[in-house]
Amino acid sequence: MVETQHVNGSIEMVVNGYVTEPAVLPGIGEDTVVLIAGGSGAIGSHCAAALSKMGARVAITGRSPDRVNACVPSVSYRGEVMGLVADVSNSGQVDSAVQSVADAWGRIDGLVNLAAIGDSGRHLQDVEDSEIAAVLNTNLVGAMYLARACSRVMKQRSKGSIVNVSSIGGHRVTPHRITYGPAKAGLEHLSRQLAVDLGGYGIRVNTMSPGQTPSNLRRFNEPPGQPPISSDVDDNPTPTKRIPLSRRGNFEDYVGAVLFLISDLASYVTGVNIWVDGGASVVR
Ligand SMILES: NC(=O)c1ccc[n+]([C@@H]2O[C@H](COP(=O)([O-])OP(=O)(O)OC[C@H]3O[C@@H](n4cnc5c(N)ncnc54)[C@H](OP(=O)(O)O)[C@@H]3O)[C@@H](O)[C@H]2O)c1
Repeated sequence: MVETQHVNGSIEMVVNGYVTEPAVLPGIGEDTVVLIAGGSGAIGSHCAAALSKMGARVAITGRSPDRVNACVPSVSYRGEVMGLVADVSNSGQVDSAVQSVADAWGRIDGLVNLAAIGDSGRHLQDVEDSEIAAVLNTNLVGAMYLARACSRVMKQRSKGSIVNVSSIGGHRVTPHRITYGPAKAGLEHLSRQLAVDLGGYGIRVNTMSPGQTPSNLRRFNEPPGQPPISSDVDDNPTPTKRIPLSRRGNFEDYVGAVLFLISDLASYVTGVNIWVDGGASVVR
C-alpha cells in the first residue's frame, strides 16, 4: 500500500512503499549511479524504479534484450535509466557493461547484484554438470566478475556500495537444492570477504536475503526473457503459518533494505547480511 504524507507542510513521500521525492536518503541523488544486475527482473525492477524516483541514474542488466528493453521505460521516473544486455557468467560481457556505464556517466556508486537462476531440485545423483556450471557461474561467479569490474570504477572515488542479493535458501536447507542454496551461501561469504578486502578503498559490501516470494525465477535450463512474475504458491516451501509476519514478501518489501545499504545511512555498515523475510529465518 502506498500512502502520501505531508512533511513540514510541503514535502511528499511514500511512507509504506519507498521514498519518491525529494531524494531524502543521504547519498542517493541526481549524481548517483547504480548498476543493477538482474535489474530487468521482478525485485530488481522495483529497486530500479525506486532509485530513479529518487533521481539516481540507473543501469539495469539481464540476458534477454526484450526483457531489458521492456523494463527501461517502466522503471524510468526522474533519474535516467539505461538498459544493457549482459550475461553475468561471462566476464567479458560484465566488463563491457560496466565500462559502458562508466563511459556514459563517469562513475559507479552502487552495485546491486540480483542476477540469478534457479536449480532443478533433483537428487544429487541426477544433477547434471550443466546445471552445476550454470547455477554456480551465474549466482556466485558472476558476483565476482561484477564486483571486480565495478570496484575498479568505485576505487577512483574511494567510495562505493555493493549489495549482493542472496536468499533464505542460502541459509536454510530445503531438500535437493544442491546448486542454488550452496551458491547463495557462497555469495554471502563473498560479501564478507569483499567487505574486508575492499573496505580500505571506501567500498562497502553487504548482503540482503529475501524470504519466499511468489516469483518466476528462471531455472538453469529455461531460456531467459520469460514474464517476470507468476504466483507459484503451491511450489513454495515456506507456508505462511511459519512466517512470523504471516505473509510472503511482495517485491516492494525488498527495496527498502537495498536503498538503505546503498545510501550513506549505511556508511558504517559493511560485511553484514540483512534478512528481509518476515521473520521466517528465525523460526525453527
Ligand atoms: N523471488 C523470490 O522468492 C526470491 C527469494 C529469495 C531470493 N531471491 C533472489 O532475488 C533475486 C531476484 O529474484 P527475482 O524474484 O526478481 O527473479 P527474476 O525476476 O527472475 O530476476 C532475475 C534477474 O536476473 C537476470 N539474470 C538471470 N540470469 C542472468 C545471467 N546469467 N546474467 C545476467 N542476468 C541474469 C534475469 O534476466 P534474464 O533472465 O533476462 O537474464 C532477471 O533480470 C535473485 O538473486 C533471487 O535468487 C528471490
